[in-house]
Amino acid sequence: MPVIAVTHPLVRHKIGLLREAAISNKQFRELTHELACLLTCEATADLPMQAATIACWSGPVQIEQLAGRKITVMPILRAGLGMLEGVLGLIPTAQVSVIGLARNHATLQPECYCEKLVDHLDERIALIIDPMLATAGSMIAAIDVLKAQGCTDVRALVLVAAPEGIAALEAAHPDVRCWAAAIDSRLDEVGYIIPGLGDAGDKIFGTV
Ligand code: PRP
Ligand code: URA
Repeated sequence: MPVIAVTHPLVRHKIGLLREAAISNKQFRELTHELACLLTCEATADLPMQAATIACWSGPVQIEQLAGRKITVMPILRAGLGMLEGVLGLIPTAQVSVIGLARNHATLQPECYCEKLVDHLDERIALIIDPMLATAGSMIAAIDVLKAQGCTDVRALVLVAAPEGIAALEAAHPDVRCWAAAIDSRLDEVGYIIPGLGDAGDKIFGTV
């Protein structure tokens, strides 16, 4: 099941707060940040570990460390930037690959206006972050870019997913797991998620 609904009580509570129509930009940013932290824990729960011995105050002690591939975080501009600090707060050594995608309001197709990727993507785990999975056109385009660079472990973190987007993502990239803080009812006639959050980018950047 590529899309995994995260059911932690803190996630369910914070998503509810995020849906308030009268929410301020400040509150929306803060909750987006907190939810990004919680989703990061879920999406990294299976990272491989390795043993190491360190000098503890009481003498040598065996500890566990993260092992294996390095991580790149890929925010989908703009709205994905609202989740970036939350992810980097927990994975401070991750490197950041940026992709700018804007949905064409008439066609709902994503149009790429910026792409700056880190190197050696074939050796990295990628965490794509974007608050909204609506038609999934933007997410699929971002995954296409990562896979074209040889990335074989792609994971996605979203706040709200629509069933239409989930079906499209599963069809296009069945190997990619996506953690969602909420799975909503449907898309409206102009491609907005119902009940959803409204325009996440506008709420994070204050452009409405
Ligand atoms: C929003 C959102 C996703 C995309 C989701 O971005 O942040 O990137 O739409 O829609 P989709 O699943 O149908 O592709 P938008 O294009 O509005 O740009 P913004 O982040 O700059 O506001
Ligand atoms: N992008 C948003 O910001 N919100 C939606 O509901 C759909 C796409």
